[in-house]
Amino acid sequence: MSKVTVVGAGNVGATVANVLAHKDLLNEVVLLDIVGDLARGKALDSWQQAPIDYYSTRLKGTEDYKDTANSDVVVITAGIPRKPGMSRDDLISTNAKIVSSVTKSILEHSENPIIIIVSNPLDVMTYAAYKMSGLSPKRVFGMAGILDTARYRAFLATALKVSPKDIHAVLMGGHGDTMVPLPRYTTVGGIPVTEMIDSADLDAIVARTKKGGGELVKLMGTSAWYAPGAAAAQMVEAILRDEQRIFPCCVKLEGAYGMKDIFLGVPVKLGRNGIEEVIELKLKEDEMALLRTSEGHVRQVMEVFDNMNL
Ligand code: NAI
Ligand code: 2OP
Repeated sequence: MSKVTVVGAGNVGATVANVLAHKDLLNEVVLLDIVGDLARGKALDSWQQAPIDYYSTRLKGTEDYKDTANSDVVVITAGIPRKPGMSRDDLISTNAKIVSSVTKSILEHSENPIIIIVSNPLDVMTYAAYKMSGLSPKRVFGMAGILDTARYRAFLATALKVSPKDIHAVLMGGHGDTMVPLPRYTTVGGIPVTEMIDSADLDAIVARTKKGGGELVKLMGTSAWYAPGAAAAQMVEAILRDEQRIFPCCVKLEGAYGMKDIFLGVPVKLGRNGIEEVIELKLKEDEMALLRTSEGHVRQVMEVFDNMNL
């Protein structure tokens, strides 16, 4: 039986645990936070939802890493979120220390877990967890692409007045304003999106997607949690069910797209072993140029992390 731990019982972490419980995949989800009572309270609240929504997954709130022992999958959401006016990169000085120490504590009690990073700045926090963990890069990766793609699909569904279920899309690059939506790989019920919407409207949707996280920070004073939590839970489900699903995830590139030693969002196959395969699309020159810009930005923030010497 698999065991999943979610670190950080804030908005995103509690949502990941709650969505996972609803999937009824597990006996128990462990929710850990430095504020133990917050984790205990949210776990208890989620458990009290079980008789209403009909699931058997129990939730345990804790501040004690011993409770995470032998986790198969760990989702790290610990860290501060953005406030209005902040970029994701502004979070690095605080979150790099948190993600690094959480990763070390997890590894003291679980030998070879799969770690999914959610904390921002996402690509560099994934790099941080990879470096701290010493795990295979197939087992340390980040959630961002599913969320960014979901935002793009939701905006398209609104514009086209169709169900978001029928919109499939790929989005690549870092989790930030340099992300690279790919209209060429976007379909609506199997029809290329370019046949369904005029280019000015599509460009506006692409632009809105790039700033999608910021739009929500402006509205709520903090960052989003429902879609991010559901996205991370979907990754956990794909791993536990060995679904071999294709999702954009933040992974270490080791030659694909001509890039090495960088964590960046690309389409991958997710299954029992974590990243089963990195999918290399034949990008056009303009698409590749956008990906390189995104790469450059992520490398700059990786350097900031390296200079912190944690
Ligand atoms: P939040 O403030 O609601 O929750 C963060 C939780 O982390 C708090 O409960 C806090 O006590 C806990 N925490 C802090 N230090 C810790 C430590 N050392 N050990 C254990 N727990 C610790 O924040 P929220 O909204 O849940 O966001 C969490 C992170 O996820 C932020 O960095 C945010 O930017 C990021 N995020 C990333 C997304 C993505 O697409 N990758 C989407 C949404 C948020
Ligand atoms: C988001 O895109 C803040 O990264 C987070 O909502």
